[in-house]
Amino acid sequence: MHAPSILVSALALAQAAVAAPSTVMMRRQVNCTNIQVFVARGSLEEIPGRQGKLVDAVCQGLPAGTTCGSTDIQYPATFDVYCKSVGSGVSFALKAVEAYAAACPDSKLVLTGYSQGAHLMGDVLSGAGGLIPNQNCTQAKTKPLAAHAAEKVAAVMLFGDVRHTANQTYNLAEGAGKSGILPRAGAQLTGLNVYSNKIHSWCNGEDPVCSSGNDIDQHLTYFDQFTPDAAAFIKSKL
Ligand SMILES: *[C@@H]1O[C@H](CO)[C@@H](O)[C@H](O)[C@H]1NC(C)=O
Ligand SMILES: *[C@@H]1O[C@H](CO)[C@@H](O)[C@H](O)[C@H]1NC(C)=O
Ligand SMILES: *[C@@H]1O[C@H](CO)[C@@H](O)[C@H](O)[C@H]1NC(C)=O
Repeated sequence: MHAPSILVSALALAQAAVAAPSTVMMRRQVNCTNIQVFVARGSLEEIPGRQGKLVDAVCQGLPAGTTCGSTDIQYPATFDVYCKSVGSGVSFALKAVEAYAAACPDSKLVLTGYSQGAHLMGDVLSGAGGLIPNQNCTQAKTKPLAAHAAEKVAAVMLFGDVRHTANQTYNLAEGAGKSGILPRAGAQLTGLNVYSNKIHSWCNGEDPVCSSGNDIDQHLTYFDQFTPDAAAFIKSKL
């Protein structure tokens, strides 16, 4: 009579040993919130960078019981080599957003990017790749965000975008009529503009990155200037 129960206990232990790590892994990978903000920081910033202020504003003051979290896009955010840095950010973000959307189909997704991070977030939506002339390098080709994830995207925020393109309907602030270092055209512009009614792209008039201006301070102050308006727009889309 003892032998079978020992066997059962041993089996149960073995099953527990198998179950425990996979449960832990699932908890780590899948933490579904009602609202999840994906953040791509700007060049040379530490995580979360200036956008931390925006994430706080979005996640505060939500209806009781609404959960809200953020995912930082892991990538170098360097200029050396710019194409590799931005390309690896695009790949990481595609995987992170698609995996989250698959695991958490009831979550609403917000994408926000600043400077090089805006470049990569736009590329996630539009599909990307090609020569970046001012950096003399070629970015790897990537597909646009998969449809199952795209339909969960509620709002897209771009600030001081390297790829800012003049006169798009979603452009805001003094630089709206000007283009940045690497404006979009063709399929990459059409691809991004599928999301037109969800995007706000903020660009100051003398920002060297998004409007070919001459005042670097204008590139550094977006979150002091526009955080309340940006958060209000995001909330209006949720
Ligand atoms: C899961 O999400 C909640 C709600 O946003 C957050 O408080 C918690 O830190 C998250 N846990 C992990 C492991 O990310
Ligand atoms: C651009 O990069 C190529 C290949 O690395 C190199 O041969 C070329 O000299 C570079 N051109 C400029 C203008 O830096
Ligand atoms: C954007 O619109 C403004 C105002 O209509 C115009 O002056 C400017 O040339 C346009 N820019 C581009 C790149 O089309």
